[in-house]
Amino acid sequence: MEVTIKSPASSANLGPCFDCAGIAFPLYNYVKVRKTNDKKIRVIIDEKNDVREFIVDEKNIIFQSLKRFHEKINIDNTGYDVKIETNIPIARGLGSSASVISGALIGANELNGKPLKKNDLIDIAASIEGHPDNTTPALVGGFVIASIEDDGHVLYEKINWCKDWKISVCIPDYKLLTELARSVLPQKVDFKDAVYNIQKSAQLITALTTHNADIMKSALNDKIHQPYREKLVPGMSEIIKFLKKEKNVLGCVLSGAGPTLAVITDDDNICNVEKIVHKVWYDLDIKYEIMTFAPEENGATVV
Ligand code: HSE
Repeated sequence: MEVTIKSPASSANLGPCFDCAGIAFPLYNYVKVRKTNDKKIRVIIDEKNDVREFIVDEKNIIFQSLKRFHEKINIDNTGYDVKIETNIPIARGLGSSASVISGALIGANELNGKPLKKNDLIDIAASIEGHPDNTTPALVGGFVIASIEDDGHVLYEKINWCKDWKISVCIPDYKLLTELARSVLPQKVDFKDAVYNIQKSAQLITALTTHNADIMKSALNDKIHQPYREKLVPGMSEIIKFLKKEKNVLGCVLSGAGPTLAVITDDDNICNVEKIVHKVWYDLDIKYEIMTFAPEENGATVV
């Protein structure tokens, strides 16, 4: 028996809410999961018809997900084939690994008679990534605030996104590994910068609950991760600076660990956004694509 899971992309941080907020998008990986009896985890990646197949080990996130799942249900892992049809660009800050982890976990849960609840899967997924801001929206959809609590469980809540606000993701054609993007972050942050981010995070939640565009404009700023990551994303600071002057733009932030930029607009007229991004990245010889989304309200589901 095989199950297929449709698992969405996501964008983490939304500027100030580092490691604790994310939003799911209607762009999907399809994860097909099948049980085998050879005790191996075989991963088949189908990236635009370029198909690669390999046996994975402890270093691989799918291996880790299935291992943790079986430890939790206390039944032997007899092996799986996991085929991923990838539509979410890899290593671009769009939660492709969270989508794959979520798909593998939901698939294994289905094939084993649903022994675990959604919250158990959310906990396992977050523990594999180390932060819950992509895995939780990938599993529950929508805009989510999530944290790993002291007892290891994820505490989360969905907050309604304002239906007039769209998100355009500007995806450059190069990869940036999260590991590298985290390695440039400082060990300590300045007290004033911490206070700044606390204020902006509070404003972001306020803006969403009151649909206040002026507060959202102020909220979409950050001083604890984006300034350090700028050097890894050529043109980012110029694009953010130019977009701040655009009337319908509420803000431009790094999507997750980058290099994708997420532009939040007060309508879906993104003509000027495209012009600005084109001007900066064309001059830097960076190819890119832009997609505009409203959030995906459903998390990963069996299809
Ligand atoms: N919150 C994470 C980061 C998202 O910014 O590093 C990337 O996985």
